[in-house]
Order: sequence, then C-alpha cells, then structure tokens
Amino acid sequence: MTTLIDGTAIAATIRDEIKDDVARLKAQHGITPGLATVLVGDDPASATYVRSKRKACAEVGIESFGYELPATTTQDELLRLVAELGQRADVHGILVQVPLPDQIDEKTALDAVPIQKDVDGFNPANLGVLGVKGQRPVFAPCTPQGCIELLDRTGVKIAGKRAVVLGRSTIVGLPVALMLLSRDATVTLCHSKTVNLPSVTREADILVAAIGKAHFVTADMVKPGAVVIDVGTNRIADPTRKSGSRLVGDVDFEAVKEIAAAITPVPGGVGPMTIAMLLKNTLLAARRRAEK
Ligand code: GUN
Repeated sequence: MTTLIDGTAIAATIRDEIKDDVARLKAQHGITPGLATVLVGDDPASATYVRSKRKACAEVGIESFGYELPATTTQDELLRLVAELGQRADVHGILVQVPLPDQIDEKTALDAVPIQKDVDGFNPANLGVLGVKGQRPVFAPCTPQGCIELLDRTGVKIAGKRAVVLGRSTIVGLPVALMLLSRDATVTLCHSKTVNLPSVTREADILVAAIGKAHFVTADMVKPGAVVIDVGTNRIADPTRKSGSRLVGDVDFEAVKEIAAAITPVPGGVGPMTIAMLLKNTLLAARRRAEK
C-alpha cells in the first residue's frame, strides 16, 4: 500500500504546536513574534502568497506587518525599508517576496536582510553553512526544511539511504541536497546536464523533484518502494475546471503512486509545509530575542 504523505494535515499539526509555543512565549516573556512581509509590485501570484503567509501568522498568534511597495520602487528605497525593519525590536523576521521588479537586484535585496531576521533562510550565509560539517544555519530555508520534516514525520529513515535530488536551484534543490547529506544520506544532485537521468533516479530510495516541469518524473524513473517528494507546482491547462487550469507537480502522480512506497500530492504535499516552516523560523527568531 502506498502511503500518501499528507502535507496539509502534517502542516496543520505543526501550526497547532507553533500556536501553543507562541502563547507560551507571550505568557513567559511578554513577546509576540513579529514578521514583516515586503511585497514590491503587483504580481498577483506573489500577492496571493504573501496574503496566505500573513493569514497563517494571524492563525497562530504571530503578528505580521505588511509592506506593499509600488512596482516603481527603487533599490535604495527597498534597502532603506529593510534596514529600518532590521532595527525594529517588534520585527523578528523579515520576508522580501521574490521575484522583485527588474530595477532591483534580487541578490542585493536578499543579502540586505540581517541574518538574525532571515526567516526565509535565503541569505547566502544561511545557505552556505548547510554544507559545512558541524555548523548549522541561523535559519534553514523553508521549503527544503519542509521536505525533511515531511520525511521525519512520516517515519522515513534518512541515514544511509540513497537520495536523489532533481534540480540544483539555490533555494530548493541545492539546500535540500545538503540537508539530506547532513542527515547522512548518500546524495546525488541531478540537473539539466545529467546524462542518462532515469538510470540515476532509479537508484533513489528517496527522490526529491524540484525542477519546475509538469509530470517530468515518470514511473519508469522511479525504483519500486521509493519515497517521492514532489516540490513542483506547475499550472497546466484543464478545460474541465472552471478556472481553465490546475496545479500539478513535477511527478506524474497517478502513475508513480502505483510503485512508490510513499508520495506527496500536489497540491497538499510540500506546499503547506513551506508556510509552516516560515512560522517555525519566525517563532525561533522571537525566542532567541527573548533569551538574549
Ligand atoms: N517567492 C516564492 N516563494 C517564496 C518564498 O518562500 N519566500 C520568498 N521571500 N519569496 C518567494
């Protein structure tokens, strides 16, 4: 029997735990965790993401401070706001939603977030130490952390397993590979130049797909009994839907679920975990402040 890894349910459990911890932090230290969200421009998908993040904050008792800047905002204006938020005692975490408009260099903007408030875990100093033995990041990036948490909470052992990650993006593929390595998996990181990809993916006990191509991973690429984590969220046309489209993952779910031991659906797998990990990092940031 294939286990469906229910990210919606696991994320709900984590949010309940966070809600209790937030209440305890308030009672014991009088501190309410605060997250500043910075949205530049009017990309509808980004606006929806930020709204979901702020709603999730409200549900667990985290205060969110929303900043919505026009698409014409200059890099200096954004950097000034980030610097100001960096100084504020009631802001424990800062999230600059990406993508940013063309006139703003994304790397410069993300690097400006002080590492102690980088709850997205996007700062290169946070990403870099993931690969260093004996060191831990101030904050682990949310989506990779969500993947690991799904494995842990499903009872999947990581140490000693063959893990194959598809995609080497800076915010998902590379960090999830480093995190699996730090948990003692034997890791292969595949990308667009990998030769004979199916022969590599078929070796995986744990297969993580993060390439952003709908239904890319087919059943012949998966070892029977593998655990499959699908990070993809791809919108494809679907005339049977009122909206005319639907979200699918990087994995051909219907075919792969027949041979995998466990698999995450899309939607309802990794997606809800990303926000749960953002809340967890914001709580952690506030806790560190309380302990200072
Ligand atoms: N854009 C898409 N996903 C994310 C995310 O997790 N954090 C930020 N800051 N921007 C994003």
